[in-house]
Amino acid sequence: MPGWEAFVALDRSAGALGDQLTGALRAAIEQGRLAPGTRLPSSRALAADLRLSRGVVVGAYEQLTAEGRLLARHGSGTTVAPLTTRPSRVIKGLVPRHADAAGTNPLITPEGRGGGRVAGLRPGVPDLGGFPRAAWRRAYERALAAAFDADLDYGDPAGVPRLRAELAGYLGRVRAARVDPGTLVVTTGAAQAFSVLAGVLRARGATRIGFEEPGSAGVRTHLDGQGLRPVPVPVDGDGIDVDVLDRAGVPAVVVTPAHQFPTGVVLAPGRRAALVVWARRTGGLIVEDDYDAEFRYDREPVACVQGLAPDAVALVGSASKALAPGLRLGWLAVPPELRPAVAAAKAAADLGGPVLEQLAFADLLATGGYDQHLRRARRRHRQRRDALVAALARHLPAARVSGVAAGLHLVVELPDGTDDADLAARARAAGLGPLPLAELRIAAGGRPGLVLGYAAQTPDELTDAVRLLAGLL
Ligand SMILES: Cc1ncc(COP(=O)(O)O)c(C=O)c1O
Repeated sequence: MPGWEAFVALDRSAGALGDQLTGALRAAIEQGRLAPGTRLPSSRALAADLRLSRGVVVGAYEQLTAEGRLLARHGSGTTVAPLTTRPSRVIKGLVPRHADAAGTNPLITPEGRGGGRVAGLRPGVPDLGGFPRAAWRRAYERALAAAFDADLDYGDPAGVPRLRAELAGYLGRVRAARVDPGTLVVTTGAAQAFSVLAGVLRARGATRIGFEEPGSAGVRTHLDGQGLRPVPVPVDGDGIDVDVLDRAGVPAVVVTPAHQFPTGVVLAPGRRAALVVWARRTGGLIVEDDYDAEFRYDREPVACVQGLAPDAVALVGSASKALAPGLRLGWLAVPPELRPAVAAAKAAADLGGPVLEQLAFADLLATGGYDQHLRRARRRHRQRRDALVAALARHLPAARVSGVAAGLHLVVELPDGTDDADLAARARAAGLGPLPLAELRIAAGGRPGLVLGYAAQTPDELTDAVRLLAGLL
């Protein structure tokens, strides 16, 4: 194959050419630019092409062979391993099963972005291998069998009535929400809930919206995309600072009360009350992102804020963390006066989400399959979080874990002066996917740290990944 120099693009001022070469080849294989079966040049030929010493190329080939991404056969040279036999693990299992096609959508949010495969420690990914395939298939088959022909027509753009009814019941039972199925809108993920709501607020004259600092860069993008500028409001150990929010003079605020993203703190009772007082006094809207609230491991999850003030809170939820992001199933419950505009915006966006998926999800909720899956997932996540915390204590003793035992990720605070963005970039080159806190802030400054996902990997895989990360630090 000609043009290896452009293909591999080494930066000679950035050091560690062997790591760069290994990383570039790994990325090309994972992204499919080097297809299974492709024969690589001999180490001598590639070394000459790239003006490297042969040992550097041999080292890269050996590493990728050990990872199972390349096959070295005597007499037939080095080829890209077939997908089916590729164990995909440098580090045994940095990649969950069935993840081959993930991560190729350029629109995916920064929390979700991970290249061709799910990188180890990448936050925002549930245990994709634990997706309840059998239960989902049964739910889908039942939904399909029970659907009338008319159900397959364009339906209510706000969502299939059966799913809205099941969701309203579920949210009441599990999250103490007060949701009328009539005010619920089913969306393609929380992402669309934010876009639709932001568009409605913008159309009503809002130009700014309060946003937790640090907070989700992906959610920020969805707001920004509709012309709503996120205004940073600091988060401390009790959650968002409501006094600062008040002074910011914004007409709405996005919060993650159950498990703040990314710090993992829970909004304290006093702050919850203060937030509702703020909304009532100013007429402001609380946008509650309840994105991973089902997963609390040390006690029952706190109820959502929406149940305290359904007239002042827009509740955003998602099946992305509990089931799988690829389903693109989310929801938005708004105060009644916003409902017509939100439903119209959803209709304008796409005339409604896929009907059969909504019916299958409704069936899963109605038959208890969802609860059963969550119980299982909670047990597994808890073990994985414990393993990650233990591995951090052992291999990265300088790092301090913050936040409660909940969700799919945790934050490690790093010693002052650590360049977390640089560390995360080097971790990415090594096949890991931690997020630096620096990327999750609007303003510069603040403590360095990394957001580490743990749900998608086994305890052994997490330990290996932490060991690798510690080596980079
Ligand atoms: C803070 C936050 N909210 C919501 C979501 C879920 O987004 P979606 O439902 O569109 O997949 C994510 C996903 O990464 C997130 O990090």
